[in-house]
Amino acid sequence: MTPSDLDQRLAVAASLALAAGGYALEQFRDPEARQHKFKGPQDYLTAVDGEVERRIRAGLAESFPDDAVIGEEDGTTGDASLGAWVIDPIDGTANFARGLARWCISIGYVLGRDAVLGVVYDPVHDELFQARRGGEATLNSKPIRAASTPDTKHGIVELGWNPRLGLEEHVTDMTMVIGWGSAIRRLGSGTLGLTDVACGRSDAYYQRHIWSWDVAAGLAICEAAGAYISPFFETDGLTKGNQVLVAAPGLAPTLKTLLTLGRAEPKASP
Ligand code: IPD
Ligand code: CA
Ligand code: CA
Repeated sequence: MTPSDLDQRLAVAASLALAAGGYALEQFRDPEARQHKFKGPQDYLTAVDGEVERRIRAGLAESFPDDAVIGEEDGTTGDASLGAWVIDPIDGTANFARGLARWCISIGYVLGRDAVLGVVYDPVHDELFQARRGGEATLNSKPIRAASTPDTKHGIVELGWNPRLGLEEHVTDMTMVIGWGSAIRRLGSGTLGLTDVACGRSDAYYQRHIWSWDVAAGLAICEAAGAYISPFFETDGLTKGNQVLVAAPGLAPTLKTLLTLGRAEPKASP
């Protein structure tokens, strides 16, 4: 895929995210529209998730009818081994459903082992993050960079949580991070956890298992912003998820130890 193919896709993805984000924001402001059910324990679903994915898929199909698409709600269409759009219509659905302003729309493009393009839109704060391989990462068109925090003692690290993972694993991760002298966050959107690192609002995000749609766009943005990104798409991360670490360069040498603890396989809640 040439830089101009990527630019074309980036422009379309950004305009789809902005349009779908406008719709999602209207729904967010209406408590009736935020009514939710559960796909599983702590796994929230609203009608807005499905509708946002439908709108983005329709827009992609119009501009790039041959492109494969993987979406959280509607699965895979096309041959994703040749490259695929990877969409999370709403990341942070629990926050969305409960009326907390921390959620976003995420559209990435994955080619082989790389996330080569990412668009993340946070409609509540009207913040649009974008990047493509070989270009710079931007927030509302202004360049962003990962923080220059010198070491873990000065660091803020977000540890992602979901109920598919075991208690022991979370406790181990927290013990290590606290032991390195970093502060811990957990704000409920893996995608915004990654873009926080890209623009210096935090120093790292780690989660033992997360799905590809939660991180595809964010990884492309973090890489372009100069952050360390773990090799998420090596092996079967696209289809089975993987552990993820993104980190400001000063913290990466220490935090990479987390990756040696191993990816957690998704399992049922206790
Ligand atoms: C979840 C959020 C959460 C992360 C979970 C994800 P969803 O996505 O990103 O922060 O810890 O692993 O599944 O369900 O809000 O799209
Ligand atoms: Ca998600
Ligand atoms: Ca989602």
